[in-house]
Amino acid sequence: MIIEPKMRGFICLTAHPAGCAENVKRQISYVESQKLPNGPKKVLVIGASTGFGLSSRITAAFGAGAATIGVFFEKEPLEGKTASAGYYNTVAFHEEASHAGLYAKSINGDAFSKEVKQETIDLIKQDLGTVDLVIYSLASPVRKHPETGVLHRSVLKPIDQSYQNKTVDFHTGIVTDVSIEPATGDDIPNTIAVMGGEDWQLWLEALRGAGVLAPNVITVAYSYIGPELTNPVYRHGTIGRAKDHLEATAARITEQLKDLNGSAFVSVNKALVTQSSSAIPVVPLYISLLYKVMKEKNIHEGTIEQMSRLFHDHLYAAQPAAKDAQGRIRIDDWELREDVQAAVAELWKGVSTETISQIGDLKGYKDDFLNLFGFSVPGIDYTKEVDEMAIIK
Ligand code: NAD
Ligand code: NA
Repeated sequence: MIIEPKMRGFICLTAHPAGCAENVKRQISYVESQKLPNGPKKVLVIGASTGFGLSSRITAAFGAGAATIGVFFEKEPLEGKTASAGYYNTVAFHEEASHAGLYAKSINGDAFSKEVKQETIDLIKQDLGTVDLVIYSLASPVRKHPETGVLHRSVLKPIDQSYQNKTVDFHTGIVTDVSIEPATGDDIPNTIAVMGGEDWQLWLEALRGAGVLAPNVITVAYSYIGPELTNPVYRHGTIGRAKDHLEATAARITEQLKDLNGSAFVSVNKALVTQSSSAIPVVPLYISLLYKVMKEKNIHEGTIEQMSRLFHDHLYAAQPAAKDAQGRIRIDDWELREDVQAAVAELWKGVSTETISQIGDLKGYKDDFLNLFGFSVPGIDYTKEVDEMAIIK
């Protein structure tokens, strides 16, 4: 069929298999130019189909030659109805891995459930024995708790006070003021239940209990801090509480992995256009100004450049770069550089519907957003028929 983007709010209901494949190939060729000699060998990536998780998987496989197992939650294709982008990304990843002679298997299901954890353990036992790196890169609006069965929903709200600032509808370029009401009821604990560290810890407990973690195992989860201007809705908001919890969980997991000499880290990553970040108010406007500034300074990175730097300079470096006072890996260092933040703050004052196309990189934002679904990818002929029924092999 011929596949076009079908937008509904902040999501795109369709995905293009050829565009997704091209994105995966581009990421692979980036890491192939940055080989990692002493990298991981057997890797589990939880949240492996899009964003930072997919780029982590590509870096491990094509940068370090690792065998990878990916876990994710994606929609399969139906006749006349496309799969989700993460599904097509994985179709392409498996195809490329198979050409390169790399082991790759994937599990499509709810990573929060006991069943998917058990299925993953069984697969590791059967094929790999153990894993030496576990990447935890889930981003989800909901989590069904495996013990209580309660369905927790995360929210993106400030705490105590309402918050007003500018925001952009990146489809139309219209900048408006948005006011977000503070969290109420169980918003904070619910958000922590979904995006905090409990499930990360449950994964590591299950893997350790099953004896499928290698000595010196490393596990990494991803966090975000961001600029002062998004603090009320991000780091000091409900999601920030979940990130505090996630970060505190790293120390607990390291303690539990003592007998294996294992370590758990949190890496604080840069703001990037992903399906998750486009849903946060104010953040897309910030990102479009940030992109403009970072591109002008020649320090812009996408998820693959970020993950490659994480592996090279931190996780597998002979002399790992310094961590911050809280023990976190900081690959948001270029985003938070003083000159970058000062430039963004200056642009923020003058940004409006009239000025955004000159002072911001709205086009870069939109292109990246469309790219997430395999659209607007250079070199793809969108007038050509493609097979929507491409399946993971
Ligand atoms: P993403 O939406 O691109 O990826 C989320 C992944 O989780 C996908 O593979 C998806 O299939 C999987 N997933 C979601 N629910 C699942 C479930 N129930 N079971 C199994 N898999 C499930 O997100 P992302 O932006 O790459 O975010 C990954 C992590 O990085 C998050 O912790 C996020 O907070 C963090 N982070 C993001 C940014 C950013 O700007 N995007 C910046 C810093 C840190
Ligand atoms: Na991810």
